[in-house]
Amino acid sequence: MRNIMTAPFVLEIGKTAANMYRLGFDERNSGNISILLDESEVGEYIDLNGVIREIPTGFDAKMLGGKIIIATASGSYFKNISDAPEENLGIVRISRDGKNAELLWGLKGGGRLTSEFPAHIMSHISRLSADCENRVILHCHPTHILAMTFVHELSERKFTHTLWQMCTESIMIFPDGIGLLPWMVCGTNEIGEATAEKMKIYRLVIWAMHGIYGSGRTLDEAFGLIETAEKAAQIYMLTAHLPRVNTITDGQLKNLAESLKLNYRKDFFD
Ligand code: 13P
Ligand code: ZN
Repeated sequence: MRNIMTAPFVLEIGKTAANMYRLGFDERNSGNISILLDESEVGEYIDLNGVIREIPTGFDAKMLGGKIIIATASGSYFKNISDAPEENLGIVRISRDGKNAELLWGLKGGGRLTSEFPAHIMSHISRLSADCENRVILHCHPTHILAMTFVHELSERKFTHTLWQMCTESIMIFPDGIGLLPWMVCGTNEIGEATAEKMKIYRLVIWAMHGIYGSGRTLDEAFGLIETAEKAAQIYMLTAHLPRVNTITDGQLKNLAESLKLNYRKDFFD
């Protein structure tokens, strides 16, 4: 067996989590990460028959039965993950009946999976139906996205359109727009189901006055989406209270999208 502390998926989560902490996206224990792993990839590092304990999922995860996932622990401080991966991460296999997560490694000292495990698993199921190569779900609390949900109308169309207007590249990075949920109690199956419903069509979903979910084939892709939305929200919060002298017009945005042959949400311009 190879040393799991050197596994690329462990190192990458630690590195990304530390970056997100430094960017102010993940104070204290905020945020959570989950990645679908290949059995052959994980099998090089851990015994796939050694189930440490069974963790009830509390919802029907059958669609991911047999899949192996690495996820952050509930309460894990993002700045500390790379120093203590075995305490702050867990590798689980979803049981065939979808009722349990079989712990194969990590959550040392009796730790629990992230409280947002339902939102992660349900979102994985949605994203896989849209893109069979999606592997990552990422949640965090970026400052300006959160701030914007306090002062901007909570309409997916208007919110996305404003973010597109704030940076030229926004429409290039998320032409499919951003899903938006009203404030809801976090850590529940209900918010998981609502997020997953949005994830059927969006790769980004904002939880008003809480944070954002991003998805992608890689951690970089999911994080890159969130970073781009956060940058646009920052420009908005820096300028919203000032007289607007210049703007990127709808005509210019559409020209850009057409010239790049983007499959963008044309209805978000109405
Ligand atoms: P966890 O520490 O349980 O992952 O919760 C953090 C969070 O951001 C809740 O939405
Ligand atoms: Zn959160």
